[in-house]
Amino acid sequence: MAGGGRRHRHSWPAADPPPPGGWRGVTTLKVEQGSAYAGILGVGAYRPARVVPNSEIVDAIDSSDEWVQQRSGIKTRRFADESETVVAMSVSASRDALEAAGIDPRQVDCVIVATVSHLLQTPSAATMVAHELGTDGAAAFDVSAACAGFCHGVAMANDLVRGGSARYVVVIGVERLSDITSRTDRGTAFIFADGAGAVVVGPSETPAIGPVVWGSDGEQYDLIRQKEDWRDAIAADAPEMPHLVMQGNEVFRWASFSMGKVAHQALDRAGVTIDELDCFIPHQANNRITDALARSMKLPAHVKIARDVIDSGNTSAASVPLALERMIRDGDAKSGDVALLIAFGAGLSYAAQVVTLP
Ligand SMILES: CC(C)(COP(=O)(O)OP(=O)(O)OC[C@H]1O[C@@H](n2cnc3c(N)ncnc32)[C@H](O)[C@@H]1OP(=O)(O)O)[C@@H](O)C(=O)NCCC(=O)NCCS
Repeated sequence: MAGGGRRHRHSWPAADPPPPGGWRGVTTLKVEQGSAYAGILGVGAYRPARVVPNSEIVDAIDSSDEWVQQRSGIKTRRFADESETVVAMSVSASRDALEAAGIDPRQVDCVIVATVSHLLQTPSAATMVAHELGTDGAAAFDVSAACAGFCHGVAMANDLVRGGSARYVVVIGVERLSDITSRTDRGTAFIFADGAGAVVVGPSETPAIGPVVWGSDGEQYDLIRQKEDWRDAIAADAPEMPHLVMQGNEVFRWASFSMGKVAHQALDRAGVTIDELDCFIPHQANNRITDALARSMKLPAHVKIARDVIDSGNTSAASVPLALERMIRDGDAKSGDVALLIAFGAGLSYAAQVVTLP
């Protein structure tokens, strides 16, 4: 072995299985395998009560309802009130998803919360969500992959169920971006919003979550980010919380041109042709990005496209599960439909997978 290290007798990939009783002098660990396949079993959502029209946003950024609609497609969004916390919205969306899946909270082995707006550095939001849901002490952790966080969570849940680490996993995408968006920032004030969506992932008789295609481009780390870190903000005696800033043009170009390839890779990895697709559920960043993606992918006309951004705004990690819930509720997506999920954002990070809808 290079570097003179000790050669392990059965490093991966193992050539031969261990003989009965294991190799002499070598302790063989017992391992577990889960279900051959996993799928999304139920979907839930929480939308904050307060609807905020463009007219409430545009004066502070010297803009207009017409400009915002034309550049983003957004007409209204929802902002959470004090009681609609990250945890409260997550619990509500998860309860809906569990009910839709017919799963009792005590059957849940793991809770994954994707968010960038749980403003307590530690502990995670997920442990509190797992507790309030009434799980029996489920494993619980948060994922920070910005707008791509929910699709990262679904990928992990798929592998946890198939690998035997969990039988039922609740995956939540949740944000209160109104807390970290400056009302006077022209590039973001009209875009970001609040809400929560959740799914239950569990065993499936047929493959219902395809392989994830995911990645990152840290060279573009600064394109969407918290303006400054908390320490710097405190040291500078900043008058307000650090908020999100975005180089909109560059993000637009990256998402429109690079994500089409990622979408096609996810289809190929799942063995699905674009003609077999029923629904396209991209991150609800901006209707123009969705249009550009659909064009670059050559999406057939029969594929239903999620447009939740029009009245939910961009809710980052919550946007894909909220859009999914909306399509099911409106009858645009039905059980057994084949849907492509794709999400992208700060990092830059992205993740995509094909799923069969519950
Ligand atoms: C944010 C976004 C809508 C801005 O649109 P844009 O066309 O790139 O805007 P620009 O910054 O190039 O500015 C174009 C013009 O609009 C003006 N403008 C910028 N923001 C404005 C606003 N909120 N209201 C009115 N006018 C605005 C600029 O001053 C500029 O005017 P000028 O041509 O007279 O100089 C666009 O970049 C975008 O959608 N980016 C992707 C953002 C996104 O969805 N991110 C989420 C990914 S997770």
